[in-house]
Amino acid sequence: MNQGVTVIDHPLVQHKLTWMRRKETSSPNFRTLLREISLLMAYELTRDLPLTDQPIETPVSETIGHVIDGKKFCLISILRAGNGLLEGMLDLVPNAVVGHIGLYRDHETLEAIEYYFKVPGHLEERRVIVVDPMLATGHTSVAAITRLKKAGAQDIRFACLLAAPEGIKEMRAAHPDVPIFTASIDECLNENSYIVPGLGDAGDRIYGTK
Ligand code: URA
Repeated sequence: MNQGVTVIDHPLVQHKLTWMRRKETSSPNFRTLLREISLLMAYELTRDLPLTDQPIETPVSETIGHVIDGKKFCLISILRAGNGLLEGMLDLVPNAVVGHIGLYRDHETLEAIEYYFKVPGHLEERRVIVVDPMLATGHTSVAAITRLKKAGAQDIRFACLLAAPEGIKEMRAAHPDVPIFTASIDECLNENSYIVPGLGDAGDRIYGTK
Protein backbone atom coordinates (compact mmCIF):
# COMPACT_ATOMS: atom_id res chain seq x y z
CA MET A 1 0.00 0.00 0.00
CA ASN A 2 2.77 2.41 0.88
CA GLN A 3 5.09 1.52 -1.96
CA GLY A 4 6.87 4.63 -3.18
CA VAL A 5 6.43 6.35 0.18
CA THR A 6 9.39 7.16 2.42
CA VAL A 7 8.64 8.02 6.03
CA ILE A 8 11.41 10.19 7.44
CA ASP A 9 11.41 8.78 10.94
CA HIS A 10 14.57 10.41 12.26
CA PRO A 11 14.15 11.03 16.02
CA LEU A 12 14.67 14.79 15.61
CA VAL A 13 11.91 14.94 13.00
CA GLN A 14 9.50 12.91 15.15
CA HIS A 15 10.25 15.01 18.25
CA LYS A 16 9.71 18.30 16.44
CA LEU A 17 6.59 16.98 14.73
CA THR A 18 5.07 16.08 18.08
CA TRP A 19 5.52 19.67 19.24
CA MET A 20 3.91 20.90 16.02
CA ARG A 21 0.89 18.67 16.57
CA ARG A 22 0.20 20.05 20.07
CA LYS A 23 -2.67 22.52 19.89
CA GLU A 24 -1.03 24.89 22.38
CA THR A 25 2.07 25.41 20.19
CA SER A 26 2.15 29.07 19.08
CA SER A 27 2.49 30.16 15.43
CA PRO A 28 6.07 31.46 15.88
CA ASN A 29 7.12 28.14 17.44
CA PHE A 30 5.20 26.19 14.80
CA ARG A 31 7.01 28.09 12.03
CA THR A 32 10.41 27.52 13.62
CA LEU A 33 9.75 23.78 14.01
CA LEU A 34 8.48 23.50 10.43
CA ARG A 35 11.59 25.24 9.15
CA GLU A 36 13.82 22.88 11.12
CA ILE A 37 11.93 19.76 9.99
CA SER A 38 11.96 20.86 6.36
CA LEU A 39 15.72 21.24 6.50
CA LEU A 40 16.03 17.68 7.78
CA MET A 41 13.62 16.46 5.10
CA ALA A 42 15.59 18.24 2.37
CA TYR A 43 18.64 16.27 3.48
CA GLU A 44 16.79 13.01 2.70
CA LEU A 45 15.21 14.32 -0.50
CA THR A 46 18.56 15.29 -1.97
CA ARG A 47 20.45 12.18 -0.86
CA ASP A 48 20.81 10.81 -4.41
CA LEU A 49 21.48 14.02 -6.36
CA PRO A 50 24.10 13.26 -9.01
CA LEU A 51 27.63 14.51 -8.37
CA THR A 52 30.39 15.39 -10.77
CA ASP A 53 34.13 15.50 -10.10
CA GLN A 54 35.76 18.91 -10.00
CA PRO A 55 39.50 19.57 -9.69
CA ILE A 56 40.17 22.12 -6.92
CA GLU A 57 43.11 23.44 -4.92
CA THR A 58 43.01 23.46 -1.14
CA PRO A 59 45.59 25.59 0.72
CA VAL A 60 47.61 22.35 1.00
CA SER A 61 47.31 20.49 -2.32
CA GLU A 62 45.38 19.84 -5.48
CA THR A 63 42.50 17.38 -5.20
CA ILE A 64 39.28 16.27 -6.85
CA GLY A 65 36.15 17.60 -5.20
CA HIS A 66 32.55 16.53 -5.85
CA VAL A 67 29.85 19.01 -6.74
CA ILE A 68 26.20 18.65 -7.65
CA ASP A 69 25.82 18.01 -11.35
CA GLY A 70 23.39 19.47 -13.86
CA LYS A 71 20.86 22.28 -13.71
CA LYS A 72 19.98 23.77 -10.32
CA PHE A 73 17.27 21.78 -8.70
CA CYS A 74 13.81 23.17 -8.29
CA LEU A 75 11.45 23.56 -5.35
CA ILE A 76 7.76 24.09 -6.07
CA SER A 77 5.53 25.38 -3.28
CA ILE A 78 1.81 24.70 -3.36
CA LEU A 79 0.36 27.91 -1.90
CA ARG A 80 -0.01 28.88 0.77
CA ALA A 81 1.10 26.33 3.34
CA GLY A 82 3.82 24.99 1.03
CA ASN A 83 5.81 28.15 1.73
CA GLY A 84 6.31 26.93 5.31
CA LEU A 85 8.19 23.87 4.04
CA LEU A 86 10.03 25.85 1.40
CA GLU A 87 11.97 28.10 3.77
CA GLY A 88 13.97 25.38 5.56
CA MET A 89 14.71 23.61 2.29
CA LEU A 90 16.08 26.86 0.87
CA ASP A 91 18.28 27.24 3.95
CA LEU A 92 19.92 23.96 3.02
CA VAL A 93 19.95 24.43 -0.77
CA PRO A 94 20.07 28.21 -1.28
CA ASN A 95 20.84 27.88 -5.00
CA ALA A 96 17.63 25.99 -5.76
CA VAL A 97 15.25 27.73 -8.13
CA VAL A 98 11.69 28.16 -6.85
CA GLY A 99 8.21 28.01 -8.34
CA HIS A 100 4.74 28.57 -6.88
CA ILE A 101 1.39 27.02 -7.74
CA GLY A 102 -1.93 28.34 -6.41
CA LEU A 103 -5.00 26.13 -6.66
CA TYR A 104 -8.43 26.31 -5.08
CA ARG A 105 -11.29 23.85 -5.11
CA ASP A 106 -14.50 24.84 -6.90
CA HIS A 107 -17.23 23.98 -4.37
CA GLU A 108 -19.71 22.91 -7.06
CA THR A 109 -17.58 20.95 -9.53
CA LEU A 110 -14.95 19.96 -6.89
CA GLU A 111 -12.34 20.60 -9.58
CA ALA A 112 -9.00 22.16 -8.67
CA ILE A 113 -8.87 25.59 -10.28
CA GLU A 114 -5.48 27.17 -10.89
CA TYR A 115 -5.15 30.84 -9.90
CA TYR A 116 -1.36 31.15 -9.95
CA PHE A 117 1.40 29.34 -11.80
CA LYS A 118 4.93 30.64 -11.95
CA VAL A 119 7.74 28.13 -12.33
CA PRO A 120 11.37 28.22 -13.50
CA GLY A 121 12.29 27.27 -17.08
CA HIS A 122 13.90 24.00 -18.25
CA LEU A 123 11.81 21.90 -15.86
CA GLU A 124 12.54 18.85 -18.00
CA GLU A 125 16.22 19.06 -17.00
CA ARG A 126 15.69 19.56 -13.27
CA ARG A 127 15.04 17.52 -10.15
CA VAL A 128 11.70 18.98 -9.01
CA ILE A 129 10.52 18.75 -5.41
CA VAL A 130 6.91 19.72 -4.79
CA VAL A 131 6.17 20.78 -1.22
CA ASP A 132 2.88 20.94 0.66
CA PRO A 133 2.73 20.14 4.38
CA MET A 134 -0.55 18.19 4.29
CA LEU A 135 -1.36 15.36 1.87
CA ALA A 136 -5.05 15.02 2.77
CA THR A 137 -7.43 14.05 -0.08
CA GLY A 138 -4.59 14.34 -2.57
CA HIS A 139 -6.71 16.35 -5.04
CA THR A 140 -4.53 19.47 -4.94
CA SER A 141 -1.22 17.63 -5.11
CA VAL A 142 -2.41 15.49 -8.00
CA ALA A 143 -3.59 18.58 -9.92
CA ALA A 144 -0.33 20.45 -9.20
CA ILE A 145 1.81 17.56 -10.40
CA THR A 146 -0.33 17.05 -13.52
CA ARG A 147 0.22 20.74 -14.32
CA LEU A 148 3.99 20.47 -13.73
CA LYS A 149 4.21 17.47 -16.04
CA LYS A 150 2.39 19.49 -18.72
CA ALA A 151 5.04 22.18 -18.21
CA GLY A 152 7.76 19.58 -18.87
CA ALA A 153 8.78 18.26 -15.43
CA GLN A 154 9.88 14.62 -15.51
CA ASP A 155 11.85 13.98 -12.33
CA ILE A 156 9.39 14.91 -9.58
CA ARG A 157 9.27 14.14 -5.87
CA PHE A 158 6.56 15.16 -3.43
CA ALA A 159 7.34 16.19 0.15
CA CYS A 160 4.79 16.65 2.90
CA LEU A 161 4.84 16.71 6.66
CA LEU A 162 1.76 14.52 7.19
CA ALA A 163 0.07 12.13 4.77
CA ALA A 164 -3.37 10.54 5.06
CA PRO A 165 -3.76 7.02 3.59
CA GLU A 166 -6.50 8.43 1.33
CA GLY A 167 -4.14 11.03 -0.15
CA ILE A 168 -1.36 8.51 -0.65
CA LYS A 169 -3.77 6.24 -2.53
CA GLU A 170 -4.92 9.09 -4.79
CA MET A 171 -1.36 10.20 -5.53
CA ARG A 172 -0.08 6.70 -6.23
CA ALA A 173 -3.00 6.09 -8.62
CA ALA A 174 -2.52 9.34 -10.54
CA HIS A 175 1.26 9.67 -10.40
CA PRO A 176 2.89 6.31 -9.60
CA ASP A 177 6.22 7.70 -10.85
CA VAL A 178 6.35 10.38 -8.13
CA PRO A 179 7.91 9.21 -4.85
CA ILE A 180 6.35 10.64 -1.69
CA PHE A 181 8.41 11.72 1.33
CA THR A 182 6.61 12.39 4.60
CA ALA A 183 7.33 12.64 8.31
CA SER A 184 4.23 10.60 9.20
CA ILE A 185 1.41 8.54 7.73
CA ASP A 186 -1.55 9.43 9.91
CA GLU A 187 -4.75 7.44 10.55
CA CYS A 188 -7.42 8.84 8.22
CA LEU A 189 -9.38 11.90 7.13
CA ASN A 190 -12.36 13.16 9.13
CA GLU A 191 -15.69 14.28 7.62
CA ASN A 192 -14.18 17.72 6.89
CA SER A 193 -11.15 16.21 5.12
CA TYR A 194 -8.82 17.10 7.98
CA ILE A 195 -6.04 14.66 8.73
CA VAL A 196 -6.54 12.69 11.99
CA PRO A 197 -4.79 13.09 14.38
CA GLY A 198 -3.01 15.69 12.20
CA LEU A 199 -2.16 19.15 13.39
CA GLY A 200 -5.15 21.20 12.23
CA ASP A 201 -5.03 23.66 9.34
CA ALA A 202 -1.36 24.01 8.44
CA GLY A 203 -1.77 27.44 6.78
CA ASP A 204 -3.65 28.83 9.79
CA ARG A 205 -1.07 27.48 12.20
CA ILE A 206 1.87 28.84 10.18
CA TYR A 207 0.41 32.31 9.69
CA GLY A 208 -1.76 32.68 12.80
CA THR A 209 -5.01 33.02 10.80
CA LYS A 210 -8.31 31.35 11.69
N1 URA B 1 -5.03 20.75 5.10
C1 URA B 1 -4.65 21.12 6.34
O1 URA B 1 -4.09 22.18 6.53
N2 URA B 1 -4.89 20.26 7.36
C2 URA B 1 -5.50 19.08 7.19
O2 URA B 1 -5.67 18.33 8.17
C3 URA B 1 -5.89 18.71 5.89
C4 URA B 1 -5.64 19.57 4.85
